Amino acid sequence: MPIHELHFLPDSETLGRKVARQLGVPARAVDVHRFPDRESLVQVATPVLRDVVLFAQLHDPNPKLLPLLLAADALRRAGARRIRGVVPYLPYMRQDVVFEPGQALSQHVFAETLGGALDELVTLEPHLHRIRRLSEVFPCRARSLPAAPLLADWAARGRGSRVLVGPDAESEPWVRELGRRSGLPWVACTKERLGDRRVVIHVPDLPDVRRAILVDDIASSGTTLAAATRSLHRRGITHVDAAVVHAVFAPGALQRIEKAGIRRLVSCDTIPHETNGIGTAAYLAAALS
Ligand code: R5P
Repeated sequence: MPIHELHFLPDSETLGRKVARQLGVPARAVDVHRFPDRESLVQVATPVLRDVVLFAQLHDPNPKLLPLLLAADALRRAGARRIRGVVPYLPYMRQDVVFEPGQALSQHVFAETLGGALDELVTLEPHLHRIRRLSEVFPCRARSLPAAPLLADWAARGRGSRVLVGPDAESEPWVRELGRRSGLPWVACTKERLGDRRVVIHVPDLPDVRRAILVDDIASSGTTLAAATRSLHRRGITHVDAAVVHAVFAPGALQRIEKAGIRRLVSCDTIPHETNGIGTAAYLAAALS
């Protein structure tokens, strides 16, 4: 079914408009009025056509989730028959089990709530640990696009001998795929997390090169990239670049990464950030159409 228009949430305008342009459909802003008590009144531009994209960049997800659900409701009430949610960065994927008694199963609550409002969800490289497919937790159709093609194009553009490095065991499938696509050698490290800001990275045998490109799906506190860079330096790598899909970057993360000595850091534009250098609009639009 063809897409007729794209509605974007506040904070999602730049990428939303780019995706709409790639799709060749109008981009329409969802209005979110904040009352003095911080409740939201959500209004979509009418008339609403039949088959729509609802576009939201969900970093800092807590204040955005309810407006997104209200926007889906508003679209249906105004005539949308099919809502494809495009959420390039999917939050709340890490808490996929109850690690300690008394904790919530955040991934399930998030997936049930968001998936219940949409007909389809499309996202890019979600952080999946213990579940393999989004369909295991989302009640609607849910598609996860791999970031490997985007990162492989970027990695292949550099010059000289270099190795792709995934910082942990979970990164192995996609660092392998990146290696296949870019033609570069690759390794996956193992990581022990000792706390929010303490990790130990074990680097396996490396090919005889002096340059490495670290690749990760998320950089949050920057601890993983910083620790991996130090471990690579200790193993004789003199030049470390890094590419991440989702630039979550908590306060202090960039300083931590710079201090570790990463030369060049690039991210996809799923979350607006000064390191954005890999555009995702054409890729997302191609997957939708
Ligand atoms: C974890 O398994 C992920 O792939 C990332 O390595 C992790 O979320 C990065 O977090 P941080 O930047 O806080 O180390």
